[in-house]
Amino acid sequence: MSERVLIIYGSRFGHSRDVSTHIAKAIHEAQPALQSTIIDIDDAKGSLNGTGLSRYRAVVIAASVQYGHIDKRVERWVKKNLSYVQQIPSLLVTISLSARKFTDDTPAPEEHTYTSKFLDHTGWHPDRIEIAAGRLEYPRYNFFDKTMIRFIMHISGGVTDRTSTIEYTNWDRLTDVAKDFVQLVENTNSEN
Ligand SMILES: Cc1cc2nc3c(=O)[nH]c(=O)nc-3n(C[C@H](O)[C@H](O)[C@H](O)COP(=O)(O)O)c2cc1C
Repeated sequence: MSERVLIIYGSRFGHSRDVSTHIAKAIHEAQPALQSTIIDIDDAKGSLNGTGLSRYRAVVIAASVQYGHIDKRVERWVKKNLSYVQQIPSLLVTISLSARKFTDDTPAPEEHTYTSKFLDHTGWHPDRIEIAAGRLEYPRYNFFDKTMIRFIMHISGGVTDRTSTIEYTNWDRLTDVAKDFVQLVENTNSEN
């Protein structure tokens, strides 16, 4: 019988949604009995509450960093549903341009200020945390965002060419993260 994994994402330009889709596919490939339901945080706010959540076997939260904070909508949702997300196997994936600097293994959350602040603010202790590099898409940004992101990239030694689109995400690594998470879900299953 198939079981469902809940994936909630908070995204501005769709990259966290793409990350969520990738993780859902990798989870299903690693364990065909696990199917994911992917929900935009804007829809999660109204449609999911205590009882609606109880049907899920595990939860993944994927959220991008915008101007120094992991998506505030996601932060509020996690705070509100903390007892639920603490009860089942959980994975947090944060997505940002600053994470492009971590080229090898994922760093400890303390090494990534946005992620550690999110954990402090929510009080959540996810079973797994992945700090993933995001996508730079200058042509899609409005004037203000373009100026700000160019400034952020400039001070961190990154690309400032306003025509650039660069994907820094390590998709193979996300596949491995999803596989590892499936293992955790299965182990938790067998312990129950
Ligand atoms: C308006 C805006 C602000 C951003 N602010 C930050 C930031 O403060 N720090 C950072 O590391 N990345 C920052 N980023 C990079 C995003 O986290 C990255 O592009 C991510 O892939 C976006 O994912 P999304 O499309 O799901 O929102 C910003 C991007 C945008 C468009």
